[in-house]
Amino acid sequence: MRAVDLIQKKRDGGELTTAEIQWLIANYVAGAVPDYQMSAFAMAIFFKGMTMRETRDLTMAMVASGDQLDLSAISGIKVDKHSTGGVGDKVTLILAPLVASFGVPVAKMSGRGLGHTGGTLDKLESIKGYQIEVAEEDFIQQVKDIGIAVIGQSEQIVKADKLLYALRDVTATVDIMPLIASSVMSKKIAAGSDAIMLDVTVGDGAFMKTLDDAEELSRTMVNLGKEVGRQTVAVITNMGQPLGQAIGNRLEVLEAVQIMKGEGRSDITDFICQLAQIMLKLGGQEVELEKIKNHLTQGHALKKFEDLVAAQGGEVQDIYRPVQTDFIYEVRAESSGYISSLPALYFGRFAMEIGAGRAVKTDRLDYDAGIMFDKKVGDAISAGDLLAKIYSNRKIPQKKITEFAKNVTISNEKVSISEILKIIN
Ligand code: URA
Repeated sequence: MRAVDLIQKKRDGGELTTAEIQWLIANYVAGAVPDYQMSAFAMAIFFKGMTMRETRDLTMAMVASGDQLDLSAISGIKVDKHSTGGVGDKVTLILAPLVASFGVPVAKMSGRGLGHTGGTLDKLESIKGYQIEVAEEDFIQQVKDIGIAVIGQSEQIVKADKLLYALRDVTATVDIMPLIASSVMSKKIAAGSDAIMLDVTVGDGAFMKTLDDAEELSRTMVNLGKEVGRQTVAVITNMGQPLGQAIGNRLEVLEAVQIMKGEGRSDITDFICQLAQIMLKLGGQEVELEKIKNHLTQGHALKKFEDLVAAQGGEVQDIYRPVQTDFIYEVRAESSGYISSLPALYFGRFAMEIGAGRAVKTDRLDYDAGIMFDKKVGDAISAGDLLAKIYSNRKIPQKKITEFAKNVTISNEKVSISEILKIIN
């Protein structure tokens, strides 16, 4: 076989065989197919798509490119969770310990942030001492001991995704449905959990811009999961505005703590409790929403989070350390009314530019930098009220602050939005 023939076949709208897909992925990982051919292949998929059978074969070829975790030593139904990326997305920090505090084991591998989206690993690493690299046997032992572990993706798992994702990132081939589906599901399948909840984000700050696209991606991933015997549910969630109040690693840890104390905004608290209900059901527990909220308010998730941090070498007291930056900018409303739009992409990029995120993989993060919104879409506001505080160690020119304020739309009509748009199972 030759890579050029497979690229041409896809470019001309052909359907690749299972053997062809397996050959391409195996030879790419072995270094025999170079990046330039793989990027041409990815672009051909953008134009010609893939059938469900091709997507499944691609996913399984990617799974086969590395190790697969065996979590059978952990008793109970192991439930994993994955988000397709968002701004201010601190869901895992709260959801994983919340679900684990009900006795459903959570053995989770998380990723880093890139571009305007954040990553759970970076948020956890903003806690002094927290180790994300844990040997497989220690990872499993930790879940057996305390019911939860959140670590970095092992280098040995889905090697094809590491190479391919880095390539897609610089060749404008990230937002392609079969590639996202195979990237996400290969990692989830290889990570070994019995059930998977997918948080498929849609809107301005997400890869999927329309509900139709998010639905198609969700159905593809749910089918992929089911075909390999993993119960899979996709929850399509709104990423039209940043999630919760904070964007930025340390600020998001602090917001997560506030929510786990029962002192967070009710919208994000309710949202996370709804996700917990779905995950718990996948884990074999039917729990009423009110009971989950009470459980959260009583501090069980926070206690589990402290246990997680301690088990992974983190300093528990550091979870509560406030941010410290050289500059704090207050952004105030220019008019009165209701907040009608807070574009997630703009604010995600803004946070990235002040050091909260990485433009390229090698960028160093400023953990304390970020944005704390005082108001969210649907909230009433009067001219002069605080909209947000920007925490930065870099001086920000006034014209950037003015532009920030202009990106907040205030209208006379109250806009109401829901966080969960659809559930696909
Ligand atoms: N998240 C992933 O893990 N992979 C993608 O391709 C996109 C989002």
